[in-house]
Amino acid sequence: MKPLIISFFLLISLGGLAQKFENLALTPPMGWNSWNYFECDNLNEEMIREMADAMVSSGMKDLGYEYIIIDDCWQTGRDSTGKILVDKDKFPSGIQHLSDYIHSKGLKFGIYSDAGTKTCAGRPGSKGFETIDAQTYADWSVDYLKYDWCHTEGQDAIASYTRMRDALYAAGRPIVFSICDWGVSKTWEWAGDVGHLWRTTYDITDRWDGNIWGNQLGWTEILEKQVGLEKYAAPGRWNDPDMLEVGNPGLSINESRAHFTMWCVLAAPLITGNDLRNMPQEVQNILTNKALIAVNQDPLGKQGFKIRDEGNFEVWQKPLQGGDIAIVFLNLENLPKTFTVNWNRLGIKGFSGKYQIKDLWKSQLRGYTDKPLKINVPARDVVAIRLMLSNQE
Ligand code: GLA
Repeated sequence: MKPLIISFFLLISLGGLAQKFENLALTPPMGWNSWNYFECDNLNEEMIREMADAMVSSGMKDLGYEYIIIDDCWQTGRDSTGKILVDKDKFPSGIQHLSDYIHSKGLKFGIYSDAGTKTCAGRPGSKGFETIDAQTYADWSVDYLKYDWCHTEGQDAIASYTRMRDALYAAGRPIVFSICDWGVSKTWEWAGDVGHLWRTTYDITDRWDGNIWGNQLGWTEILEKQVGLEKYAAPGRWNDPDMLEVGNPGLSINESRAHFTMWCVLAAPLITGNDLRNMPQEVQNILTNKALIAVNQDPLGKQGFKIRDEGNFEVWQKPLQGGDIAIVFLNLENLPKTFTVNWNRLGIKGFSGKYQIKDLWKSQLRGYTDKPLKINVPARDVVAIRLMLSNQE
């Protein structure tokens, strides 16, 4: 009887201690994930290794991209002890080997599972196997877990995600925990104490707009669903409007540029989803724009918000550390737009004094905010500005 009572109290106290790993993802996570472009069929270890190589050779690693994340379809079943079995056709050398390779490049390694009985692609989920799976991830030196929400009939989201959080915590390896229940439980209201980022919508597709079958959204549809969520974001807790489609076939270059810019303003995780091995230079230029990445990674950790909406023309702002402000003019129209900016009357929150204006795509100084500025925003594109309190000349 006695040992039982002791272990009962031990369990209670451990339960009380459980928390998420703090001091992780203090700025939005940056990396690459296999799903958007490769999905299930084209996933394999050689491609993942090449993607790690490309993240280094493209200069992305030096700019802060660090996670290489394998999404769905790496797992096939469980052995007699319940340990997850790896798809040997796709990963003949095993996951440990891949994790070592990614770490040898100075990068971090992410993996995927699901809170239900099966993943969205029908592979084994973690329900009932949270402890053993978390231990396996820790043994493999996993740094990031994306945890999906398919096949969870009858499950409570908070309880299910908390169970995995506690299992990760008990396994002891600091792991960024990415909650992926598509916002269906108003995830932003509870997820900050459980994970480091949480999806806010159904899946993104490489489209400008539209909504296929109700759960595959063009990025501008997703953008509008972020309005009002800014108050939930902070260092270590991010709204996740889903992974980037920059450079994927359904978006033109200007559409990709606008998409990237808005994800930077949203303080969204910058998880790329294109083929980094075969990027046209202009796609690489988008993903490696240092000034925009600095807006996204700003240590203040404020999510940007919309300050003006004229239907097909929007203005967004993101407060930055030290009093600087990022401003983005987004032209949703299929025609170019000319606009004269009267800085005092734009409705910028916290606007005070005179700022120097920097165009973040043209890398040009454009005077000061005491004079109106005429801008031309190409069709389906942006003008991105940093208003700077300190003089850069
Ligand atoms: C869900 C997620 C996607 C992806 C797929 C994999 O749809 O939202 O991001 O992980 O599952 O099957």
